[in-house]
Amino acid sequence: MMLTLEKVGLAIGSGPDTRTLLEDISLQVGPGESLGLVGESGSGKSMTLRSILRTLPDGSTSSGTVRYRDKDITTLSREELRRFRAAEVSMISQNPLAALNPVLRVERFLIEGIQAAKPRTSAAEARKTALALLADVGIHDPERCLRSYPHQLSGGMLQRVVIAGSVARGSSLLLADEPTTALDVTTQSDVVAILNEARTDAGMAMIFVTHDLDLAAAACQRIAVMQKGRIVEAGPAQSVLGSPQHEYTQMLVASKPSLTRRASAPVPSEDGK
Ligand SMILES: Nc1ncnc2c1ncn2[C@@H]1O[C@H](COP(=O)(O)OP(=O)(O)O)[C@@H](O)[C@H]1O
Ligand SMILES: [Mg+2]
Repeated sequence: MMLTLEKVGLAIGSGPDTRTLLEDISLQVGPGESLGLVGESGSGKSMTLRSILRTLPDGSTSSGTVRYRDKDITTLSREELRRFRAAEVSMISQNPLAALNPVLRVERFLIEGIQAAKPRTSAAEARKTALALLADVGIHDPERCLRSYPHQLSGGMLQRVVIAGSVARGSSLLLADEPTTALDVTTQSDVVAILNEARTDAGMAMIFVTHDLDLAAAACQRIAVMQKGRIVEAGPAQSVLGSPQHEYTQMLVASKPSLTRRASAPVPSEDGK
């Protein structure tokens, strides 16, 4: 297994003011697998990702284990943790601008990523690879994109660039936190298709966080439903949505009448534009 969380807990504050943010979170993701983490706002989805990255809020106390390959991430030294974050994990958020330096062209972002993963790559070679990666994520004029600054690109383009960046860096673990929330519906399904392609081609393990059950079913093989800091139900996407066992999941499914129809439709693989 690539990533295993065992009974992960998180609390903040002390004494009578203690608040539990996560309780008993256990999950597994293997290479090339995708897990959807679904739940209402405030249910602890982002905190779960932050416990994997170990970027926890000040004054919080964590428990349980986060195993990445054969290492318990919770016991890594600062330097080991820095290396884990830089070399193994890519984080894709709602706001792709956060991942990009506004004064650097896309070219620098991608070439640095490629050279970080393979230090002996020449700049010319890295540039070629960058062009190919941009084409892979459905960018039609990769040359022009390479020369652009982040603010010159649309949200959908930026998200593609960030995904190309995670492939460039050779990340094995992709943590996507509501990566398509800010995008229109067509671009949303393009980005999900590209994420899935990158995941299967590069054998990355992906956790895809969303409050949207339809999207989780389209993007992921398995789904875990979170409520108030706990996983209340988990299983294959189709069975969680088709025959939800937990009351909370049933409520989520019931509030989405189009769900079964859309969830059983295949993920569109062709790239709209
Ligand atoms: N820095 C923080 N300090 C204390 N509590 C926080 C902090 N950030 C988030 N929380 C609380 O943790 C809970 C889970 O938040 P989060 O993981 O961001 O939810 P989600 O991503 O599912 O919307 C929420 O109740 C939120 O208020
Ligand atoms: Mg969140």
